[in-house]
Amino acid sequence: MEWKRKHLLGLEELSKQEIQLILETATSFKEVSFRDIKKVPALRGKTVVTLFFEASTRTRVSFELAAKRLSADTLNIAINTSSTSKGETLLDTAKNIEAMNVDAMVVRHGLSGSPFILAQGLNCSVINAGDGCREHPTQALLDMFTLKEKFGHLEGLKIALVGDILHSRVARSNIWGLTKLGAQVTVCGPATLMPRGIEQMGVGVDYDLKRVLKNSDAVIALRLQKERQEAKFLPSLREYSRLFGINQDKLSEGSSNLIVMHPGPTNRGVELSAEVADGKQSVILEQVTNGVAVRMAVLYLVLGTKEEVVI
Ligand code: CP
Repeated sequence: MEWKRKHLLGLEELSKQEIQLILETATSFKEVSFRDIKKVPALRGKTVVTLFFEASTRTRVSFELAAKRLSADTLNIAINTSSTSKGETLLDTAKNIEAMNVDAMVVRHGLSGSPFILAQGLNCSVINAGDGCREHPTQALLDMFTLKEKFGHLEGLKIALVGDILHSRVARSNIWGLTKLGAQVTVCGPATLMPRGIEQMGVGVDYDLKRVLKNSDAVIALRLQKERQEAKFLPSLREYSRLFGINQDKLSEGSSNLIVMHPGPTNRGVELSAEVADGKQSVILEQVTNGVAVRMAVLYLVLGTKEEVVI
């Protein structure tokens, strides 16, 4: 199939075939990062700007590396030193950056839906790097890529998403993506952090973590978003960790082939014990490695180059 979209705003609107195309394109790009000279000319002459209004390590760095490895020019805007701190609107800031002839803007913002505002107001491509509690499409794509690499397929896999489902854009993107590709998704977490009606997204709900681990091929532990707990959803972190934190004891309820994933940043001792985060079932750093290949694929497809991929 041919890629036709100018933007990547979420996985909700993508078809199964579009998601598969991104994953296949990422497979062909992965090897580039293991070469001595980690570069292909696919996006030579293009300019990619990362505009992050929230903190990031993995997403921002891997988008920058992905763009550089495709030979694009890159620019990071540090938002605390930009003119939004003087009251300029998001769209005005973005329009002024675009006026310098950029081809793609990779945006993270705390407001759910903000990438749609930019996509409607700008001529360049917009890639969502996380918007509020709504979507984080490239995180879910790299999670799916890692699962496919580990298991060879996604169809029929049993995937558990554990933790703060209510505030998690990673959970929402994974639910859209994994269910479209035929995985069986179960969500597990405190009832206060479980969105009402989540079953309508095609997932199962189970509040018993040990049972969930026993019945899963992979578990994606979600970061407890302390910055979004304004309504006191939890009695304490200790209580959360006791019931929904994954330690070696709970992990041993599942198969020894069960893999443990986390989008990062991890609150060690809260979502995962250090032993589990660093243990042999953890693929957390492989997820980070795969993030570069997936973001190379997204930039390549969205920027619509018609040249043959030379790798
Ligand atoms: N997973 C993720 O989005 O990590 P960062 O916040 O470090 O980008």
